[in-house]
Amino acid sequence: MLRAAVCVSGGGTNLQAILDSIDVGAVTNTEIVAVISNNRGAKALARAESRGILGLVVSPKDYPDREAFNEAFTEKLCGLAPDLIVLAGFLVKIPPQLVTRFGNRIVNIHPSLIPSFCGVGYYGLKVHEKVLERGVKITGATVHFVNEGMDEGPIISQQAVRVEEDDTPETLQRRVMEQAEWILLPKAIDDIANGRLAVVDGKVRRV
Ligand code: GRF
Repeated sequence: MLRAAVCVSGGGTNLQAILDSIDVGAVTNTEIVAVISNNRGAKALARAESRGILGLVVSPKDYPDREAFNEAFTEKLCGLAPDLIVLAGFLVKIPPQLVTRFGNRIVNIHPSLIPSFCGVGYYGLKVHEKVLERGVKITGATVHFVNEGMDEGPIISQQAVRVEEDDTPETLQRRVMEQAEWILLPKAIDDIANGRLAVVDGKVRRV
């Protein structure tokens, strides 16, 4: 049974997609052992609580500096003994010491087709604003393993989504969530939980 810890910062719709997928058997061999947020008001925490899942708040605001937060966050996560850390809309940079300890056992969902519209400053609605500003016709979402860079780890899966001419950032975000994020992330977790993926020469391969 894969022990997964899910890190969130906001609404938690990706967390909900994971929980629903477990309920219907689309994700197997997986247990969500905790939901961790930097935002004590995150609706994602309420989603976890309603399912009896441990919710934890670890925020940089509660520490004198980033190094102290990084140490505390790493200790808290390691204490949960997860097999996999899932970043589901988590807006805090992962401590480098955690990436070192969990190499290729941390996954992230990003709301664009990496390497487009990613990196520093590209998160949440901002991604879709930039997509509309540039006028691209196809966007989407990417699930990738987390490395020491920002949105630079090995790509696990991607799903393209059409941009409509009358899209707003909000309508586009919703479509990318519905048609890509909420499908890709649970599938990636199920693949990892059932040993279907390997990283070979920095590339993700199905085994
Ligand atoms: C999603 O758009 C996700 O791609 C991005 O942050 C947002 C989180 O949404 N990383 P939610 O908290 O899962 O609803």
